[in-house]
Amino acid sequence: MSARSAQVVLGVAGGIAAYKACTLLRLLVEAGHAVRVVPTESALRFVGAVTWAALSHQPVHTQVWDDAHEVPHVRLGQQADLVVVAPATADLLAKAAQGFADDLLSSTLLTARCPVIFAPAMHTEMWEHPATQANVATLRERGALVLEPAEGRLTGADTGKGRLPEPEQIFEICQTVLARASSGQELDMAGRQVVVSAGGTREFLDPVRFLGNRSSGRQGYAVARAAVARGASVTLVSANSTLPDPAGVKVVPVVSTAEMREAILEAVARADALVMAAAPADFRPVSSMPYKIKKSDDLSAPTIELTQNPDILVEVSRDRPRPDLVVVGFAAETGDEQASALEHGRAKLARKGCDLLVVNDVSEGRGFEAEENEAVILDADGSEVPVPRGPKEELAHRIWDLVVAKWERNRI
Ligand code: CTP
Repeated sequence: MSARSAQVVLGVAGGIAAYKACTLLRLLVEAGHAVRVVPTESALRFVGAVTWAALSHQPVHTQVWDDAHEVPHVRLGQQADLVVVAPATADLLAKAAQGFADDLLSSTLLTARCPVIFAPAMHTEMWEHPATQANVATLRERGALVLEPAEGRLTGADTGKGRLPEPEQIFEICQTVLARASSGQELDMAGRQVVVSAGGTREFLDPVRFLGNRSSGRQGYAVARAAVARGASVTLVSANSTLPDPAGVKVVPVVSTAEMREAILEAVARADALVMAAAPADFRPVSSMPYKIKKSDDLSAPTIELTQNPDILVEVSRDRPRPDLVVVGFAAETGDEQASALEHGRAKLARKGCDLLVVNDVSEGRGFEAEENEAVILDADGSEVPVPRGPKEELAHRIWDLVVAKWERNRI
């Protein structure tokens, strides 16, 4: 099996977002996969079997009684390289968590031994209900990839968390999961909770001016996306990035370093790893004016007094809310007369007290706003892993490989 031509089961549960699964189906078929659509009875109230059959070029059944001679309730799951359920309703998640097998989709979920992705979509109240959250936690612990729903417009006039991520984004995740599975890499971060920070914080001088930096958030977003595609439950603390929310991630928007610190300390209490890819501003004005600072006629300029912000990486590395938490820092360094970029990185790793430090050499503006990155990952144990120039996603996976290896070592 390769990511190019896989056997995919697309489960569709009974929610209004079922219509978006048509686009996901098209993308999977166009990518060359053989897709069997398995809707629930209620899904067919939203999109009919004819649509699924025509788009997939395959027969469509909801019950185990159809084509019984082929034993489809066992065969579909056994033969699948990937099962993706989109949308997954609260009811479907409950059935999957309990192991019910009263229709073709739930039976397929019990027989599947391949990666399973659930893309939930429901109203905010249903998603947040402790029953649903407990079912999601159970499925994640058992190794399934359960995407966090997106925020936005829901079925009615209301908005909130519970939207199905865009089909294109779910498709990208399916492709990554299939590509990794075809080289023997399973959902090795399933059941793990990770926190990633991204972007650059802003410290406001007045309502319109701020101290900021050039961080786009691209590398942090790539780190978050890679973790989702490996099954992790991801909280992305994002400072002022203009990038679209990555699918399946819980995004916590922040502005200043103080807000970022608060969001991270809260999220990291339950986390297995923290990756600080953000560029938090090191300084903030002692006071921020509630009104716009005006020029004066005598050409004088105001003096801005700054104070230092807390160092989040140092604080989390020192306090270790959980002893087995793996903490990763980033360092954009330039070489100077005293030391090379890498030597500065080694000193920073020791100073920060984190477990891994991703050092990239940003001499001559390299690394900023670019799609590619090149780095050396320094380990507190003295080893180092060079990552050649390549997509930021590639560097993200190398970081997670090292984090996963540390989790494995801690377990022994
Ligand atoms: N960092 C942090 N809190 C801060 C500043 C930085 O957690 N207030 C984190 C960054 O997210 C990054 C790492 O620390 O993972 C290194 O950031 P960097 O700006 O290189 O560190 P500084 O301590 O500010 O070092 P320098 O004096 O070289 O700027």
